[in-house]
Amino acid sequence: MGNKKLLLGLDVSTTGAKALLIDSEGGLVSSATNPLKLSTPRPLWSEQNPADWWEGMAKSIRSALEKAGASGEDVAAIGLTGQMHGLVLMDEAGEVLRPAILWNDQRTGDQCDTIRERLGKERLIQITGNDALTGFTAPKVLWVQENEPDVYAKARHILLPKDYIRFKLTGEYAMDRAGGAGTILFDLKTRTWSPEVLEALGIPSEWLPPTFEGPEITGVVTAEAAKATGLTEGTPVVGGGGDQAAQAVGVGAVESGIIALTLGTSGVVFATTEAPLIQPEGRLHAFCHSVPGRWHFMGVMLSAAGSLQWYRDTLAPEVDFDDLVGAAESIPPGSNGLLFLPYLTGERTPYPDPLARGAWVGLTVRHTQAHMTRSVLEGVSFGIRDSFTLIKEAGLGEIKQVRISGGGAKSPLWRQIMADVLGVELVTVNTTEGAAYGAALLAGVGASLFDDVISACEATIKITGRTSPGGNVDVYNQYYPHYRALYPALVDEFKAIAELDV
Ligand code: XUL
Repeated sequence: MGNKKLLLGLDVSTTGAKALLIDSEGGLVSSATNPLKLSTPRPLWSEQNPADWWEGMAKSIRSALEKAGASGEDVAAIGLTGQMHGLVLMDEAGEVLRPAILWNDQRTGDQCDTIRERLGKERLIQITGNDALTGFTAPKVLWVQENEPDVYAKARHILLPKDYIRFKLTGEYAMDRAGGAGTILFDLKTRTWSPEVLEALGIPSEWLPPTFEGPEITGVVTAEAAKATGLTEGTPVVGGGGDQAAQAVGVGAVESGIIALTLGTSGVVFATTEAPLIQPEGRLHAFCHSVPGRWHFMGVMLSAAGSLQWYRDTLAPEVDFDDLVGAAESIPPGSNGLLFLPYLTGERTPYPDPLARGAWVGLTVRHTQAHMTRSVLEGVSFGIRDSFTLIKEAGLGEIKQVRISGGGAKSPLWRQIMADVLGVELVTVNTTEGAAYGAALLAGVGASLFDDVISACEATIKITGRTSPGGNVDVYNQYYPHYRALYPALVDEFKAIAELDV
């Protein structure tokens, strides 16, 4: 070690603070994660304390360096990624004013209506590329404005989770443009804050930090941060990207025609665009990519592998994941008429509905645990098909390849079900470290180890496997319209049930 050839990717996700070291050829060197807890003090709320992110991240950085037998001197640059949309409000002195309100918090339905009223839904989508959804940052700012005026009066800075880590590392208030777009305070075309949106919502523009492209250097590690982490003072920190854009970089989905399908807690279908395209009804999210000068469309299902995790933790806590999923292999496609709706934490795409709920429909005494397991894998796959269809219909041209990644993609059965439900070949890649890997590649571009993001991906990411659609495509085509019919049939009941459950 000693010639500054390592790249550090930092991912502050909802479940853990992860530090990943790779070498200049993209080889994995070491990784460390400290778990993070979620606080849900009221129904629909989801919060975390930024101090916990920093504590966890500082520890993870130290242990990743230690495991690699490396020192801060070996790190050429640092890239940041993390959960998008979360609101970190800080005062003049840089103190955090309240727990961060996260991407999966659903309290802001009324504030979304206010945003649409103030700007007009059509104008909002024209400027930001997106409708107002409860998960995004702007309605969270309005919620604090309305419900916690004392906190709001002290606010001077708005950051996202990853940018809080940047602030602790560099002392700079700064944000990447993928993250900026995810606040919906952003002008998608000009890749900067929208004066029109900020004015309509009464949010002072000085509260928003300067924004940067993914590989641009935003600041350097301070002496204080160096002491806390084992890094070296002066190490550059690049813009990085929101977790979905960084994940796309991490699997090489950086050009049009290459789709990234991520089966993490959430499920995402991500398509790069060469221009700031907008879907007129805002049914797909449209954000900036972490690739400079590129954008992307994205459909987001809120509980994908999260549905399987919930199912196992709640109904089969004693059963090992592999055994649980393995038993579903012998169940016929369609799970003998059992359908699962995966809206366990509300939904975004294709139904932007915080009150949507999960369901099993079609249970009979013939159904076993293995049927229920298979129906969860199938229900999530049907939900992904909803987003995939929207992407296919968005007029982006030929889909050349679909790259699947995330925890759920490790299951060959789930990959096969997904390929059958979507009717396309899925490929896997050698890089399985997700968004942190993408962030490390962005750091590599910032440190001039690669010429640009596309060549960084070409140099490091290789196809490792393929799953082709098999004999079950027709069966799934017969079940899918029935899955599609269930949400419209139940939506009013979901709302009524939510009103009873306070
Ligand atoms: C993207 C989104 C999620 C969170 C989860 O729009 O909300 O990917 O960033 O980490």
